[in-house]
Amino acid sequence: MKFFIDTANLDQIREANDLGILDGVTTNPSLMAKEGISGYNAVMQHYIDICNIVDGDVSAEVISTDYDGMIKEGEALAALHPNIVVKIPMIKDGIKAIRYFSDKGIKTNCTLVFSAGQAILAAKAGATYLSPFVGRVDDISWDGIDLIAQIVNIYQNYDVETQVLAASIRNPLHIVQCAEVGADVVTCPLSAILGLLKHPLTDIGLQQFLADHAKASK
Ligand code: E4P
Repeated sequence: MKFFIDTANLDQIREANDLGILDGVTTNPSLMAKEGISGYNAVMQHYIDICNIVDGDVSAEVISTDYDGMIKEGEALAALHPNIVVKIPMIKDGIKAIRYFSDKGIKTNCTLVFSAGQAILAAKAGATYLSPFVGRVDDISWDGIDLIAQIVNIYQNYDVETQVLAASIRNPLHIVQCAEVGADVVTCPLSAILGLLKHPLTDIGLQQFLADHAKASK
C-alpha cells in the first residue's frame, strides 16, 4: 500500500519524506488555504515546491467546475512538473475531463467520491486514482471502510487499473483498516502516520533495555 501525505504544509511534507516511507502528496483547495497560499502564481509555485521535496505523485486540484475550465487549468497544472496529477471532482464535466486527460496520458485523481457507482464511472473514464472519503462517510454514521472494501472488490472483478486512494483518513486505525481491505493508496495527515509508531510496550521495552544496558556498563 502506498503512503501519501494529505497536506500543503511544506514542513510536514519534509518530515514525512524524511521518514523514507512517502510515495506522494495530495492537496485540496482547503488545505492550500489553510497554509495561506492564494493567488494563481503563489499556488502554482507551491505545487512546484512540493514536487521538489517528494519524488512521487502530487495531486493538484482544479477549481473550475465546467469542462473547458478544467481542461485549461489541468493542462497548466500538468505542465508544472511530470509528477503532477490533475485532481478533478466527481461531477459530469469532471468525468468528461478525466477521459480527456486519460486519452492524453495525463494522470488524474477523481475526488469527492462517496459511492461505488461513482467509482465505476471514474474507472470507465480512465482515472488514475479514485479518492473515496473515508472520514467524511464515517462522519454521517455510514462506514467509510466498507465503501473502500466494496470499491476494491468491484475493481478486482474487472482488473480495473484505477488505483483506490483512500482519502479523508483521520487516524492510524483507518490506515490499518484500509490495508486490510486492499486499498492501493492511503493519503493521511502526518499525525495519523506518526500514530502508527505508537505502542506502550515498545516504550516500556526500550526503557528496560536501556536501563539494563546502563546497569551492566557500570
Ligand atoms: C484528499 O484528497 C482529500 O481532499 C482529503 O483527504 C479530505 O480530507 P478531510 O475530509 O479530512 O477534509
